[in-house]
Amino acid sequence: MKIPARLTPLISEGMIDRVVSRLMSGKEADVYIVEINGQRQCAKIYKDVEHRGFKQAVRYTEGRKSRNSRRGRAMEKGSKYGRDQKEKSWHDAEINALRKVAAAGVRVPKPMSCVDGILFMELITDTEGNAAPRLSEVALKPEQAIEDHNTLIKYILRMLHVGIVHGDLSEFNILVDEYGPVIIDLPQAVDAAANNNAREMLLRDVNKIRDYYAQYAPALSSTKYGKEIWSLYESGTLSPNVNLKGTFEENTKSADVEGVMHEIEEALKEQQERIRRIEEAEQNS
Ligand SMILES: Nc1ncnc2c1ncn2[C@@H]1O[C@H](COP(=O)(O)OP(=O)(O)OP(=O)(O)O)[C@@H](O)[C@H]1O
Ligand SMILES: [Mg+2]
Repeated sequence: MKIPARLTPLISEGMIDRVVSRLMSGKEADVYIVEINGQRQCAKIYKDVEHRGFKQAVRYTEGRKSRNSRRGRAMEKGSKYGRDQKEKSWHDAEINALRKVAAAGVRVPKPMSCVDGILFMELITDTEGNAAPRLSEVALKPEQAIEDHNTLIKYILRMLHVGIVHGDLSEFNILVDEYGPVIIDLPQAVDAAANNNAREMLLRDVNKIRDYYAQYAPALSSTKYGKEIWSLYESGTLSPNVNLKGTFEENTKSADVEGVMHEIEEALKEQQERIRRIEEAEQNS
């Protein structure tokens, strides 16, 4: 096969032993299987900014901070150095998000390194060692759909607990291996606390997953995990092991109508009693 130009320097330097095959040429990146120290790995080569699609849109990157203030200032200025730094921070965003969510107990490919705009990570495989299929390519039994849906809801919750919303979750960004679903493709991951679109994106992610699995297990379609998770997050009570109900009662539930009516009746009675006593006192005087 033709070796991609971006990988040739790494082969000459001996970092990569060989390129095994091309997996995918996506909108945002070209993905290859490579061999490093006799082990197969996945190499995701990011396309440069002109060839990239929607994921770098401002609504995703809003609130992202550069840890390095010089880099931050340069990015704002838009000079050549600034553009390079912006590219670098885009490349770093995915490996940083992968590390963070993996540490939070979410199954993602184990990230190895990010060199010259190429992310090296664990290759997720099927039982034969070939690249694992995407969720969109797998047929599921209803019980399996429910189990995998619940696993993903747990992963979404754990990501939010460490402040991350995936932002582009779908059956195309989830791989399935013998142990279950694995989330991929996180360069656009959103900072939940700093981004005003985070709630909307979390709800969209959850609903996409729900609707996809509901094809196999229709009972899932009435669940409301998204709103439940977000309200726990907002009230500061989200914990990775919280037991979710899958239902969400809009705020009206807090109105205990019967109780309130009782209070009103009691107040009315009290007032009438007061008036009666005043009238009685006036008559007696
Ligand atoms: N770690 C991995 N192990 C196995 N296959 C992978 C891995 N990472 C990516 N792939 C394959 O490569 C494809 C593209 O990867 P990814 O979704 O990360 O890139 P992308 O270019 O951003 O995609 P998109 O088309 O969503 O823009 C995936 O759908 C999957 O089939
Ligand atoms: Mg993708």
